Amino acid sequence: MSSSAQSLLSFIDNSPTAFHVVDGLATELMAQGFEKLEEKDTWQIKEGGNYFVCRADASIVAFRAPSQWSVNSSFKIIGAHTDSPSLKIKNKPTSTKEGYQMLNIEVYGGALLTSWFDKDLLIGGRVLYQDEEGAVKQILVQLPYRLRIPRLAIHLDRTVNKEGFLVNPQEHLCPILGLDEDIDFEAWITKETGIQGQLLSWDLFLFDAEKASFGGVNNEFIYASRLDNLGSVHAATQALLSSTYHAHDFLVAAFFQHEEVGSTSQNGADSNFMETVLKRIVLAFTEQQEPFFQAVASSLFISTDMTHAVHPNYGSAHDPNHKPMLNKGPVIKSNANMRYATDAFSIAKFKQWCYKAGVSYQDFCNRNDMGCGSTIGPMVAANLGMATIDVGNAMLSMHSIREMAGTHDHQMMIDVFEAFFDS
Ligand code: CO
Repeated sequence: MSSSAQSLLSFIDNSPTAFHVVDGLATELMAQGFEKLEEKDTWQIKEGGNYFVCRADASIVAFRAPSQWSVNSSFKIIGAHTDSPSLKIKNKPTSTKEGYQMLNIEVYGGALLTSWFDKDLLIGGRVLYQDEEGAVKQILVQLPYRLRIPRLAIHLDRTVNKEGFLVNPQEHLCPILGLDEDIDFEAWITKETGIQGQLLSWDLFLFDAEKASFGGVNNEFIYASRLDNLGSVHAATQALLSSTYHAHDFLVAAFFQHEEVGSTSQNGADSNFMETVLKRIVLAFTEQQEPFFQAVASSLFISTDMTHAVHPNYGSAHDPNHKPMLNKGPVIKSNANMRYATDAFSIAKFKQWCYKAGVSYQDFCNRNDMGCGSTIGPMVAANLGMATIDVGNAMLSMHSIREMAGTHDHQMMIDVFEAFFDS
């Protein structure tokens, strides 16, 4: 199997939350010679230079500047999201129930709730505290303790297989923390994370303790958490890192948090993050306003997010003529009602990159009697006024705690992204 698929598995294992995703990417980019820009500083951008900027520690835009900037320089952008559905620990984190110490959680995004039962769960995210000088500091954490949301035994729920497993997220979904009813969560977190100071707040999530792996008789599958959408984040990052620079255009990879909850936030795809970064990039080369608008008019945005492969046991969930398969290449996502930003122009461009890369593509369109999901493509297209295509690799078990994708699709998508950056 390809080294890129192997690398994806490690990336997922090292990225339990959006904060870890961005932290890991920043480390990797700096190792590859990218310079970190702060939004609060004045930006100095050199021709041929490599840079990245983060917002709210969970979104990141990385770019390579052209070797020769001109008013004709455009943006070639690949965008994806850093977050995945999860269970998030509430601010009042514990309660007792039937003699058990419970962790109070709320559901983040459209999680497939039944998949979170009977799994070994770990806690990860960021913790904020006040240090000895009174400054607010932050650290990323992963705790080693396994928690669990146990299923009710079939003997106590005889009809569940026929009538369905209904989950009330308030009543049924809180994990058991332990049997120690006196545990002080804040003192425990302070001790376990080793912070020197007063714990103030946290963004802590639960995640699957099981590591990503290959599966299938020929290792043709990837089994992992958060493939949606770390598969896309990893593919776009690999393409950016392998493309050295472009003579005329900016090569950009942009990853946003909060897609799973609608993208409206300080650093979501529906924020001004993308636009302000692109504007400031152009302003670093010219004080004129005009070149930014000229650049946007000739730029392209690939919005990449995983998509639904046809399921062998539920084939009728797909339109009969649009049944993407695993390992058959990138999927072009279209929707007449613009739940995807794809149009004939962006399809034409994408097919050119596929031909150039020697990679086959597939088409996805929802059944007419079913609602269509969406992603960051339409909002970025609308906010920037930029030609956009929605694509993604096919997968099964989307939004389950453990998802499944095709091993070979990953390198194919990277090849197409590289063709786009080289175009
Ligand atoms: Co997604």
